[in-house]
Formats: sequence, C-alpha cells, structure tokens
Amino acid sequence: MRTPRKGESSFDTSDTSIDVENLDLYEASAKYYDIWHEDYQEDVRFYLKLAERTGGPILEGMSGTGRILLPFARAGYEITGVDRSTAMMDNCATKLYLEDPDVQQRVDMIQGDIRDVKLDRKFKLAIIPYNSFLHLLEVKDQEMALSNIREHLEDGGLFAFVVFSPRLDRPEHLLRHRGTRLTKQGEIISWFESQIFDQPSQKTMVTYFYDISRQDGTLRRVTSVFTLRYLFHREALELLDRCGFDVLEVYGDYEGGPYKATSELMMFVARKKG
Ligand SMILES: C[S@@+](CC[C@H](N)C(=O)[O-])C[C@H]1O[C@@H](n2cnc3c(N)ncnc32)[C@H](O)[C@@H]1O
Repeated sequence: MRTPRKGESSFDTSDTSIDVENLDLYEASAKYYDIWHEDYQEDVRFYLKLAERTGGPILEGMSGTGRILLPFARAGYEITGVDRSTAMMDNCATKLYLEDPDVQQRVDMIQGDIRDVKLDRKFKLAIIPYNSFLHLLEVKDQEMALSNIREHLEDGGLFAFVVFSPRLDRPEHLLRHRGTRLTKQGEIISWFESQIFDQPSQKTMVTYFYDISRQDGTLRRVTSVFTLRYLFHREALELLDRCGFDVLEVYGDYEGGPYKATSELMMFVARKKG
C-alpha cells in the first residue's frame, strides 16, 4: 500500500469498491456489540448524574442495544431510545424482555433517524453517548440532528454528547488487537481494528475484524467497515451555538476533569437556548 502524498486523501480506494458511507455496519456486527461493550459502565454513571440534575423524561439518540437505556430505566427514569438499526434494536428488545415489568414500562424504543424522528413528547435531558454523534457524516446531518433534539427538549432542557478527541498522530493502516473474549457458546472471539484518517474530509474509515474460532478448529471472520466524521473542540462549540444551545460544561473525562489537548474524550453539556 503506497503512502499518500501531502494533501492527498489517505483513503486507498484501490483497496475496495465498497460504498463505505452507506453500509449499515450494525446489521453485520450487532451481535458482537454487547460482548465488548456491555460491561463498559464509566459513561453510565456520568449520564445518570446529569439525570439527577434534570429529572426525566430522557431521550437517548442512537440508543443501540440499550447499554445506557436499561440502567436509566432501572434507576427509575422514563427514557425513550431512538435508533435506526433493526439488528441493534432487536438486541435491546431481547434484553428488555428479561427486565421487571416496571422497568419495561419506563422504556420506549422508537426505530427512526435522529435527524428527523418526530416524537409526541418533550424531554428534560437528551444524550447521544459513545461517539455515536460521529455517525453523522456531513455538517447538514449534524445540524439536522441537533435542531431535532432541540425541538424535543423542554425549555431549559440539557443535551450532552461525548466523542473521542481526534489524535491524528495515531498510526494508520495498522491492526490493533482490541481484545479476546470467550462466549457462552464456547466460541473464542478476537476483535481487531484498523483506522485510516482522511484529513481533508475530516473522516476516518474504521474496519473491524471479528475472528471467531470454535472448539472444532473452524475459524470465521466477520468484517465491518464504517466511516466516522470526527469533530474538533472549537467546531463542536460553534455547532452547538449555531443549533440553539448554550454550552455549559466541557469535560475531558468521565470524572469531570477539564478538556485538554491530551484528553482522550470531549464531553459537552449544553442547555437549550431560550
Ligand atoms: C456506537 S452505537 C451506540 C449505542 C449506544 N448508544 C451505546 O452507547 O452503547 C451507535 C448507534 O447509532 C445508531 N445510529 C447511527 N446513525 C443513526 C441515526 N442517524 N439515527 C438513529 N440512530 C443512528 C446505530 O444504529 C447504532 O445503534
């Protein structure tokens, strides 16, 4: 693979003829999502603290398999999750089915697109956790989503989202081993990730490889490819302001530390402008 010249896109399109931006990565990989993310709790505490500030009801945009949705409902909050992926929502529904009826009653799951879904209620808090906002690939998509969320917030309602802080010095084209897990069915799954940054379009092409080996010696690989549009700190502040939000707080970690150049994360808490 040749190294791109300065200013040239680093997406090597000779590698693939896939329309990467229009693939639904979650249809292929939803069944592996919870294996890696279910026990990730750090952000749940952060969002629950915000909910203590605002009270419910709460809107989670891009709610996926319910990793955040369910702890909120267990904690007594009414929460509505919006997601466009059937596969992710099916996983969420399966988990919800195992919950107590009172928890089930507090959850509303809507299949739709956060850019234009219309709900018949307003919320005190809206959240988009875990880099999901970066699935919005164009500025107009980001603006549509924020304006739609704003319309669904009560006066003075809060909106929070968390994304990674772009570190463009990260090595590209390399496979990173994200971990190996044993499933209940006795399969061993290894997760590898590679990223290619395209600085002119501010997008990163991410490829996940899941290698699934069985006790009988067979090995299967599931690959999913997707694009994220990363955001810079200043850009996010301006975007929120333009879409009708006052930014109240910006953190660099889930403990509430300040955002710094070396922070892994950027966490924005904003209030709907009056
Ligand atoms: C990384 S998962 C996050 C799931 C969950 N919020 C969590 O923290 O575990 C991102 C989710 O965003 C959903 N998604 C992507 N674009 C969307 C859009 N425009 N509207 C609604 N859901 C979307 C995907 O289907 C996927 O379930």
